[in-house]
Amino acid sequence: TRPTEEEDLIATLDVGTSSIRCLIFGSQRQVVAKHQIDIKRLYPHPSWVEQNAKEIITKSTECIQGAVTELTFAGYKIEKIKGLGISNQRETTVVWDKVSGEPLYNAILWLDNRTADLAEFFVNGKGQGERDCLQDICGLPIHPYFSALKLRWLMDNVPTVREAITRNTCLFGTVDSWVIWNLTGGVESGVHRTDVTNASRTMLMDLRSLQWSEKLLDFFDIPRAVLPVIHSSSQLYGATVGTAFAGKPIAGVLGDQMASMLGHGCITPGTAKNTYGTGCFLLANIGEEVKFSKCGLLTTVAYQLGPGAKPVYALEGSVAIAGAVITWLQQNLTIIQKAEDADELANTVQDNGGIYFVPAFSGLYAPYWDTEARGTICGLTEYVDKAHFVRAALESTAFQSCQILDAIQKDSGMQLTRLQADGGMSASNLLMQFQADMAGIPVCKSILFLLVKGAFSGWVIAVPPILGNIVAGVPKMLEITSLGVAIAAAKAVNFVDFLQEGQPIIAGNVRQTYVPRITIEERMSKYSFWLEAVERSMHWAKD
Ligand code: G3P
Repeated sequence: TRPTEEEDLIATLDVGTSSIRCLIFGSQRQVVAKHQIDIKRLYPHPSWVEQNAKEIITKSTECIQGAVTELTFAGYKIEKIKGLGISNQRETTVVWDKVSGEPLYNAILWLDNRTADLAEFFVNGKGQGERDCLQDICGLPIHPYFSALKLRWLMDNVPTVREAITRNTCLFGTVDSWVIWNLTGGVESGVHRTDVTNASRTMLMDLRSLQWSEKLLDFFDIPRAVLPVIHSSSQLYGATVGTAFAGKPIAGVLGDQMASMLGHGCITPGTAKNTYGTGCFLLANIGEEVKFSKCGLLTTVAYQLGPGAKPVYALEGSVAIAGAVITWLQQNLTIIQKAEDADELANTVQDNGGIYFVPAFSGLYAPYWDTEARGTICGLTEYVDKAHFVRAALESTAFQSCQILDAIQKDSGMQLTRLQADGGMSASNLLMQFQADMAGIPVCKSILFLLVKGAFSGWVIAVPPILGNIVAGVPKMLEITSLGVAIAAAKAVNFVDFLQEGQPIIAGNVRQTYVPRITIEERMSKYSFWLEAVERSMHWAKD
């Protein structure tokens, strides 16, 4: 082993919905420095969710500085950083003026639902009543989740955006583009680029050509001039200017959920993962061919590791509100003081006391895509106390994930036998146990699904080497998203090829396993109450 100061390093910046993290990895994939800063969400109206776009940049810069300070303190050398990978919350939309460098509006977050009516306008107008009328091009239903409608809304409602478009000074980007543009010098020398995975969430990219689609741009009436250039997930984007990383090349970019797929080692068709973050995102690798869901799942680009490389696709089930419900209990209802208290309080009761909580704050995402659903609690009696309430909130994440699992099984004909989990909320033992109980399969953190049979030919059966048949687990290396984008960046700068070492990326890191403990009858009973509660939450906001 080389002395610390000789070790080559790869840096990552994960710009998430709740926090920004800067991690620096050594050649053994070990984290040698880490700095994390929380970022605020703004709620100017019901169902509107924004962030201050400038704060995203200042906190990213602070985070980089914090990690570099820690790096130096640990005896490593900043000169040894070979490149930087950026992962980010997807779909969130930023528009800015390339001359002034100023954002033209707050960032509109992925969970923002202000464009619900606009979505219906497009579905019932150009879409002729078909929410999925563009699925064959972009793999997505017409829905406020994706960037196209957010950008359309900005063009229709913010005069400064319209003016900048007329002057040809307006730039649009998802968070990766906004960060890349700023880190590469902004008004002076900023490059306006995005990667295929982020572009695949805008609803403007053709999944097969990996280019902006004329048909989609026409459909939403978006000017091409505002869009960034699409790059692969692993190539040189430009050199960082300023910040403690000055001069380092940005060499890898991935949407955070795709980064976590790569971090989990889901590089074989049929492998999948579930990330329990602000929302919950279950992605399954479907290989190099585009395939579309009939059960409300999205088709998306999982990664493209190099400009000449073939893209790999994924089916995704997204849940809008997962960890966000715990934040809501903490900040809005003040039932708990901090997120970690949720488990403790929920564990003071045996069960949910008969209540089912559907946190449809932003409507319901997969498999329903119902923008009119609203949060609902069913089964309240005087017996119920705040512990039941918190327990039901935690359980809602597991129920929603079960619905995605069902959709994947229906779409593919696969029998999933194992679930691999990560994300902040996977720290909840109660949730992980309940997830295993309700899914009736293992939840494990280093090897995700065992696919027994598949309608999609070529899916590989991956047998977990360590665990028994029915377990669920959490990886020791919790920074899976950052590891994923480190892999992409490392490849572009010829650092250690983490994917070519002939071993599972996080092999041996299974920290904990969760085995289903309830009977099928109990499971079916709870699940049918849940489905009933979901039915009641739907179409609430209808006129
Ligand atoms: O699609 C939204 C997703 O990328 C957000 O992820 O981890 O920031 O909640 P996260």
